[in-house]
Amino acid sequence: MVSALLLAALPLAAAFPHSASIFAGSTTSAAFPPPGATGTSYEEYFPAAAEVGFAGPTPTGAEPEAIQTAPAAPVKLDTYPLVADGAAYNPSFNPMRYWGNLSPWFSVGGAFGLPEASPQVPSGCELTQVHIVQRHGARYPTSGTNKFAALLQDAVVNGTGFTAHGPLEFLNTWTYKLGAEILTPFGRKQLYDLGVAARVQYGHLLDEFTRLPVFRTTSEWRMVQSARNWAAGFFGLEEYPTSYHEEIIIEEEGYNNTLVPWNDCDNANGDLYTMGSWYANNWTEIYLKDTVKRLQQYVDGVELTTTYVSEMQDLCAYETVSIGYSKFCELFTEEEWKGYQYANDLDFWYADGPGNPTGAAQGIGYVQELVARLTQTPMTVFDTTTNGTLDGNNITFPLDQPIYMDATHDTNIASIAVAMNFTSMVASGPLPVDYIPEDLSYNTQHIAPFAAHLVGQVMTCPVKHSTSDSEKYIRWLLNDGVVPLTGIKYCEEPNKDGLCLLDNFIKGMQERVAEVDFQYDCFGNVSVPYPDNLTNGRYIR
Ligand SMILES: *[C@@H]1O[C@H](CO)[C@@H](O)[C@H](O)[C@H]1NC(C)=O
Ligand SMILES: *[C@@H]1O[C@H](CO)[C@@H](O)[C@H](O)[C@H]1NC(C)=O
Ligand SMILES: *[C@@H]1O[C@H](CO)[C@@H](O)[C@H](O)[C@H]1NC(C)=O
Ligand SMILES: *[C@@H]1O[C@H](CO)[C@@H](O)[C@H](O)[C@H]1NC(C)=O
Ligand SMILES: *[C@@H]1O[C@H](CO)[C@@H](O)[C@H](O)[C@H]1NC(C)=O
Ligand SMILES: *[C@@H]1O[C@H](CO)[C@@H](O)[C@H](O)[C@H]1NC(C)=O
Ligand SMILES: *[C@@H]1O[C@H](CO)[C@@H](O)[C@H](O)[C@H]1NC(C)=O
Ligand SMILES: *[C@@H]1O[C@H](CO)[C@@H](O)[C@H](O)[C@H]1NC(C)=O
Repeated sequence: MVSALLLAALPLAAAFPHSASIFAGSTTSAAFPPPGATGTSYEEYFPAAAEVGFAGPTPTGAEPEAIQTAPAAPVKLDTYPLVADGAAYNPSFNPMRYWGNLSPWFSVGGAFGLPEASPQVPSGCELTQVHIVQRHGARYPTSGTNKFAALLQDAVVNGTGFTAHGPLEFLNTWTYKLGAEILTPFGRKQLYDLGVAARVQYGHLLDEFTRLPVFRTTSEWRMVQSARNWAAGFFGLEEYPTSYHEEIIIEEEGYNNTLVPWNDCDNANGDLYTMGSWYANNWTEIYLKDTVKRLQQYVDGVELTTTYVSEMQDLCAYETVSIGYSKFCELFTEEEWKGYQYANDLDFWYADGPGNPTGAAQGIGYVQELVARLTQTPMTVFDTTTNGTLDGNNITFPLDQPIYMDATHDTNIASIAVAMNFTSMVASGPLPVDYIPEDLSYNTQHIAPFAAHLVGQVMTCPVKHSTSDSEKYIRWLLNDGVVPLTGIKYCEEPNKDGLCLLDNFIKGMQERVAEVDFQYDCFGNVSVPYPDNLTNGRYIR
């Protein structure tokens, strides 16, 4: 039987161009603002604040530095105002924590192996600089069709239709409502909130600027949206447009961009890249085999497969972060969510991370920039993804900022983690395709969730066994979890706070830059399939 509502939606969509299309992967836009309405119409009736005056007193107070002054670090746990229906689960299970790179970020605590470390600056140390690498916030699906939505659509279009009942009954009236690529309202909030948090924690570093900061983003719209929402939170909605220089680096094939490395790395595309989905798909066949049978009994007229069912899981995540709630979520058990997460882990591991021969090469351009900033040495060699026009210029690539902020993508954070030799993440690798390892060390929702942020804290700390001397240290936090640096040469000595002497860290990064063969890894004849036992993002010949 044909689903009446889905069928009816088609002619309706044609008759009313602004009504949502049911077409899966639709790029239909909502109708707001109404046609012809602009912010400048009736301007004379709505004078600007400066014209109205009477703003009252506006003292700002001193810059906050909660990263030092508060006794404990804030902890991000909630995802207000999103709703994930917990009814199907025991109350302690939060499905949003198993969506991999589609999870909204949360504080990961000791996930990387340093349970005692706090994001607060260790007592006695003084923070002098931060390096922030920030993923965009929650977005709609990237371009490309959701195969499950397309399956339903096809059945309606070709007149065979479908009927659903029981837990799938909602499908009879369900329509696809999502946009593509850009931030969702919740995604905007994530970045705005993180800008506010950065101001509360690191605001005092603004006192050290002698010029306006340069903060970088790529040109893709969700990236620009993310960078601006962050800046609006950091500087204030009224002040942000005049408070910093927004550097927008072109994100497009053929352009060098350390924040979008795959456009300047041939091997990061094509067969080597699809290794990720190949592994993920193999695992999906395993963990969803029985789920297909379970769900199939509730729908007639379409034939489910593991691919369709995993795309139903995608819809749970995407609908929740886009429209606040999804009926798809409660269809799945805890085990199925853990399986879904692991498919995502496999994808990142083999496509961009420790298991891909371009993993380190893709992240190494950022590491070169980091070394230049840490040593305040102008860059002169541009032999990776760096753009010499921008990075060779002290206006577009300043070396003396107390705060650096770079907006980037999930996969690049995964690659930077490999380039920086965060080896604690690879302890349970190489990742097997047919079961989830115990104590899995590579969890994408810890590494690259929506609004993920990698933060380097540079600080001065007293030297052990001396009361007068102090030395510079650095450490790295990923989503509030302190990352052990013991896999980095010269930082091997375990440290409960994740600290490494700054000079030693720099030496380690310089050696890492030397050992990663960008030219070969990105453009060489790396044969496929390559050995699947890589754990350091490099294919060693
Ligand atoms: C019509 O639907 C059936 C069942 O889903 C499918 O096998 C077929 O490919 C569809 N045809 C078209 C033209 O969409
Ligand atoms: C480098 O950046 C400049 C400024 O955006 C741009 O004009 C140029 O095309 C870029 N070059 C490459 C190779 O990406
Ligand atoms: C992946 O699945 C294909 C097709 O079923 C199979 O031939 C291959 O051995 C699987 N690979 C792994 C690593 O399990
Ligand atoms: C872009 O990257 C390539 C490959 O590393 C390099 O040869 C080229 O000089 C770079 N271009 C710029 C403008 O930096
Ligand atoms: C850039 O370098 C030039 C030449 O060394 C110097 O005069 C200028 O002050 C620098 N500008 C900035 C913004 O650092
Ligand atoms: C990075 O890690 C790999 C694998 O553990 C190690 O062989 C290499 O020496 C490390 N390099 C640096 C510079 O720390
Ligand atoms: C790439 O390597 C494969 C085997 O490793 C070889 O068969 C092929 O000829 C090589 N291609 C080029 C262009 O060197
Ligand atoms: C990975 O496997 C290949 C054989 O496929 C072997 O030659 C190589 O030593 C292994 N490397 C590691 C790091 O285990």
